[in-house]
Amino acid sequence: MRVFVAGAAGAIGQRLLPELVAQGHQVTAATRNPAKVARLRELGAEPAVVDGLDAMAVGEAVARAEPDAVVHQMTALAGDTDMRHFDRMFAVTNRLRTRGTDHLLAAAAAAGAKRFIAQSYTGWPNIRQGGPVKTEDDPLDPDPPAAQRESLAAIEYVERVVPAAPLQGIVLRYGAFYGPGASDALVDLIRKRRLPIIGDGAGVWSFLHISDAATATIAALEHGGPGVYNVVDDDPARVSEWLPFLAQAVGAKPPLRVPVWLGRLAAGEVAVSAMTRIRGSSNARAKRELGWQPAWPSWREGFSRGLSDTEPARGAA
Ligand SMILES: NC(=O)c1ccc[n+]([C@@H]2O[C@H](COP(=O)([O-])OP(=O)(O)OC[C@H]3O[C@@H](n4cnc5c(N)ncnc54)[C@H](OP(=O)(O)O)[C@@H]3O)[C@@H](O)[C@H]2O)c1
Repeated sequence: MRVFVAGAAGAIGQRLLPELVAQGHQVTAATRNPAKVARLRELGAEPAVVDGLDAMAVGEAVARAEPDAVVHQMTALAGDTDMRHFDRMFAVTNRLRTRGTDHLLAAAAAAGAKRFIAQSYTGWPNIRQGGPVKTEDDPLDPDPPAAQRESLAAIEYVERVVPAAPLQGIVLRYGAFYGPGASDALVDLIRKRRLPIIGDGAGVWSFLHISDAATATIAALEHGGPGVYNVVDDDPARVSEWLPFLAQAVGAKPPLRVPVWLGRLAAGEVAVSAMTRIRGSSNARAKRELGWQPAWPSWREGFSRGLSDTEPARGAA
């Protein structure tokens, strides 16, 4: 298959490229940055230098690649974490999920691509009522914290337009990433004891090893009908459970505990929600319809060995 990957030099793209190449696919890898071209070649792809927000340039690059499938992995999440101004932190990512998706979808359809795979997110977008674990049939949050409204709207946008497009449109909602190159910021906060458990720590998180994000994306190239799929591990867990475990796994002191009022004052409503109210996600549909299994089924094994490793220990999973 000929595959065009936008956002190819990011955390997920760098895992995806070698797997695609190993499976015999011919890959065009897009970046904005000419300095990354050599690295993309090393990973076995044909580089294309293009800005995902430039409709003409995207159209030309995709047309030149003549892809059977197009993969959208463009995000702009590498900066500092600012939970209080969540939508501001996600502003470029939100544009990539709206305008960036439009440009790439139009280019894919014009070039005759049959399949389009886009990145979304699962965890905080879930409705924060009812049971602790949500499926794709559950609604998204009708009343998110004020600072997350634009980001949720961008997620709703990509999840609406991609499956409705005139090709096979798949949206993969990845859980919270960890793994090589994907959890350094989180681990750094924990080492500095700057990630306290707020309130009862009853927020439920669904994690995903970055390597499993790549294998799910590859599975989605050939399996599954148009729609939205949660791509997470088998082990949704409360903050009060995973955060002390992760602290111990990285040799940090146990996380501090702060009351909700103090958490709200120090870090804002989004942080309080993430620590106390968000829901986890079920991967049953992805397993059933994409034929995908996480190699890292639990963050327990993952945080112990998978922060720096891509493969689980033999017999561990
Ligand atoms: N589900 C999750 O938890 C999740 C999802 C995504 C990312 N993350 C985390 O966020 C951190 C940063 O992610 P990342 O390394 O993937 O970097 P990133 O900064 O989020 O960028 C990903 C890719 O998007 C591309 N991009 C950004 N703006 C673009 C634009 N205007 N046009 C075209 N491409 C554009 C970048 O391409 P260029 O090569 O052009 O710079 C980059 O390769 C990592 O720790 C990662 O694990 C987490």
